[in-house]
Amino acid sequence: MATVTYDKATRIYPGADKPAVDQLDIAIEDGEFLVLVGPSGCGKSTSLRMLAGLEDVDGGAIRIGDRDVTHLPPKDRDIAMVFQNYALYPHMTVAENMGFALKIAGVPKSEIRQKVEDAARILDLTEYLGRKPKALSGGQRQRVAMGRAIVREPQVFLMDEPLSNLDAKLRVQTRTQIAGLQRRLGITTVYVTHDQVEAMTMGDRVAVLKDGLLQQIDSPRNMYDRPANLFVAGFIGSPAMNLIEVPITDGGVKFGNSVVPVAREALTAAADKGDRTVTVGVRPEHFDVVERGGDALRKDSGDGAAPAGLAVTVNVVEELGADGYVYGTVEVGGEQRDLVVRVPGRQVPDKGSVLRVVPRAGELHVFSTSSGERIGD
Ligand SMILES: Nc1ncnc2c1ncn2[C@@H]1O[C@H](COP(=O)(O)OP(=O)(O)O)[C@@H](O)[C@H]1O
Ligand SMILES: [Mg+2]
Repeated sequence: MATVTYDKATRIYPGADKPAVDQLDIAIEDGEFLVLVGPSGCGKSTSLRMLAGLEDVDGGAIRIGDRDVTHLPPKDRDIAMVFQNYALYPHMTVAENMGFALKIAGVPKSEIRQKVEDAARILDLTEYLGRKPKALSGGQRQRVAMGRAIVREPQVFLMDEPLSNLDAKLRVQTRTQIAGLQRRLGITTVYVTHDQVEAMTMGDRVAVLKDGLLQQIDSPRNMYDRPANLFVAGFIGSPAMNLIEVPITDGGVKFGNSVVPVAREALTAAADKGDRTVTVGVRPEHFDVVERGGDALRKDSGDGAAPAGLAVTVNVVEELGADGYVYGTVEVGGEQRDLVVRVPGRQVPDKGSVLRVVPRAGELHVFSTSSGERIGD
């Protein structure tokens, strides 16, 4: 077991004008399950392959435990990698596939058999040890690929989108199995995925990458509760956080007809940058519905007081049983904007109706409109 350290690790592909991975700094703890997540092309696989020794490191260093492995060949790094396509040998049985690396390393036959049988038991593969990969389901092949990594008892597991060839249901099952297995074995793991749900459910910590740059590294909880910038705010969470540019007013921000209080530091920070707006983030579950069935065009109520909140015209309602998601439009600063609001599953509004919603105070995220960075708290 070991820690893994990316120390300003950089990869610039020959002929590229900017790094695919730019001064990556991550300190992974012994036994930790770290997930690298981000959109396609952000540098996840490159980061993993740099750790595996399959890609040159052009700047900085990579360490496994106290060993500087930056320029070591893959075979000397004591890692095992699981690839997206599993890379099983078609002419070998499951047992031969799982034991192959040990055979190459000259491990005695009886020891190989023992390790393969142990891993097969953990992975529920015992009855398939004599089969060839083509006679297995996708999920079983995936487990063979895992088994091949496990028998090597490496210091670090590296996994590059190992679930992306499985159907949705199997993916959910397998992600729980992999996370559980990793916790039992306690082997430091770096896991790559583009799927933020996978990242959030599996990782002890999650590192979000964009354009080769680390955006934030945090526990799933903190990542969700305190995204560091607009990119992370929009990337983590499904449906995504609503992000709306709103004018700053005295003591808060103007949300339709309501002034929602915002931490003074956030407003000061925005003003210091010369911004007259901030971008406010509200998760779909953090709106209070203050009125149903109103009229979107109504500017004030009968007694002359302006109606509270934002008028949301309901376009689509997604009913998920426990919850419903309302996909609607609002008018902010003269523009039509999309808004998603979570409502209780048994209180979903009709399509075409109007809700008035107010973001819950204390659940507001505030970002600088000019820099995109979180401000205030
Ligand atoms: N072998 C390569 N040669 C040149 N550019 C590459 C190579 N592999 C990846 N890239 C580029 O580096 C960037 C990061 O790629 P990659 O690490 O594969 O992203 P991800 O795994 O996050 O989808 C992309 O812009 C990609 O086009
Ligand atoms: Mg990739």
